[in-house]
Amino acid sequence: MYTQRPSTGRLRGRAGELKSILDVLDIAAAGRSAILLVDGARGIGKTRLLAAAEDQATHNGFSLAKARADELPRPPPLASLYAGLGLAPPGVAGGGGAAGQGHMLACLEKLAVRTEKLAARGPVCITLDDAQWADSTTITALRALPLWLAEYPICWVLVRRTVGQDPRIDWLFAEWEHLGASRIALGPLADDAITDVIGDVLSARPDGALLAMAHGAAGNPLLVRALLDGLRAEGGVAVAGGRAQLLSGRPPRRVREVVRDWVMRLSPTARHVLDVAVSLDRSFAVDDLGDLLGWPDEQVRRPLHEILAADLLVPVEKDVLAFHHDLVRQAVADRVPAAVRIALCRQVAGTHRFSAVLAAAAPSRVKMRYPLGWADECAGRPQPATEEWDVLTDGERAVAELVAQGLTNREVAARMFLSPHTVSFHLRKVYRKLGIRSRVELTRASIHRERDRLSRR
Ligand SMILES: Nc1ncnc2c1ncn2[C@@H]1O[C@H](COP(=O)(O)OP(=O)(O)OP(=O)(O)O)[C@@H](O)[C@H]1O
Ligand SMILES: [Mg+2]
Repeated sequence: MYTQRPSTGRLRGRAGELKSILDVLDIAAAGRSAILLVDGARGIGKTRLLAAAEDQATHNGFSLAKARADELPRPPPLASLYAGLGLAPPGVAGGGGAAGQGHMLACLEKLAVRTEKLAARGPVCITLDDAQWADSTTITALRALPLWLAEYPICWVLVRRTVGQDPRIDWLFAEWEHLGASRIALGPLADDAITDVIGDVLSARPDGALLAMAHGAAGNPLLVRALLDGLRAEGGVAVAGGRAQLLSGRPPRRVREVVRDWVMRLSPTARHVLDVAVSLDRSFAVDDLGDLLGWPDEQVRRPLHEILAADLLVPVEKDVLAFHHDLVRQAVADRVPAAVRIALCRQVAGTHRFSAVLAAAAPSRVKMRYPLGWADECAGRPQPATEEWDVLTDGERAVAELVAQGLTNREVAARMFLSPHTVSFHLRKVYRKLGIRSRVELTRASIHRERDRLSRR
């Protein structure tokens, strides 16, 4: 797996955000407590910005208490704040109810006393990274302590990821924003900042092809770093005379590893939807995706919400979505076996409605900047056993084979001299007998059966 580098290197394209950091530090230095909330998508540069805030605070004479919540293993309640403030981990309360409540208050008081002592000596900056994984007691502490200590020179910087977060952390951020905390919604890096990052990493100016590929990260610095590190490691870029020339048309394995990590956090259904969506253009109509999956509208919308919340797709207009990052689209495409992709593309091409909708919906800015490449790897889903095909009638098998080749119901009907209604009737029975739910699964099952048949020869 691609291990993310520590959030180091020169900070690019965040002048406005640095100004907000200076402002809250000034408030705290003047003797009042101040809170800065930072949120943004995965890999957008939150930790890097936090590191810049911490450096600035140290530079301005603040003492620093750095805390970080962990996803796994989850530390005991309040442990991250305790560690950040240099305290030994709090004990765990024996029993719940009043005893538990009393223990929690005692722990909060201990944190308050410790912070108060530090702040009596000079301004303090307390930071918490990855607050989306903070436990309930830590969230309670972060709501209470800044109020208790409002008259002290303390700057609190709370950072959270906005993907799949917990409603409790939503509540905390909303509360503090309502009470006047400053907030930075960290967005993508601008194009010129991306060029600067490339220059910093490769010590060279990128050629047009490299720039175009880097823009496939849609301003996400984590993807840009994975791209550059990967290209360098795999010999995909040549640096000479101050110019960096792209040698490979395909993003490196490191980008695929980052994207795989993101995609594996989705539910299996959402992953399947994403695999199928990649057969359409970068922007596509939700209806067309539903048709391709063979799912009714409400069934396709639920996983789409999940994918949108994960920032992998973005809305372009009503009922039209687009892949947010070309690099992600390419990496997702690499997950789909070539034969399945070809069958899906034939289905897409065979349905006139798709091209009409896409031509109308896809603004030029969301077009792919370089063509997709496809890896012929197996998707690894369980397939119906080859014998299960034997229970199909001749008519059902013929329909199944034609549909698996990418023909629409209407085309199958014309070939077999049947009505489209009869084709769809046969198809439903095929789905039921094979235990599948869509044309995509049927195509996969057909490929699997063919491979099985060949291997038995
Ligand atoms: N403004 C920037 N200029 C240059 N490099 C950056 C910038 N922001 C982030 N990076 C680099 O991009 C990578 C990802 O950044 P970072 O770890 O801060 O993202 P993150 O939002 O904290 O990710 P996560 O959601 O996983 O916590 C790091 O290598 C970091 O150094
Ligand atoms: Mg981070």
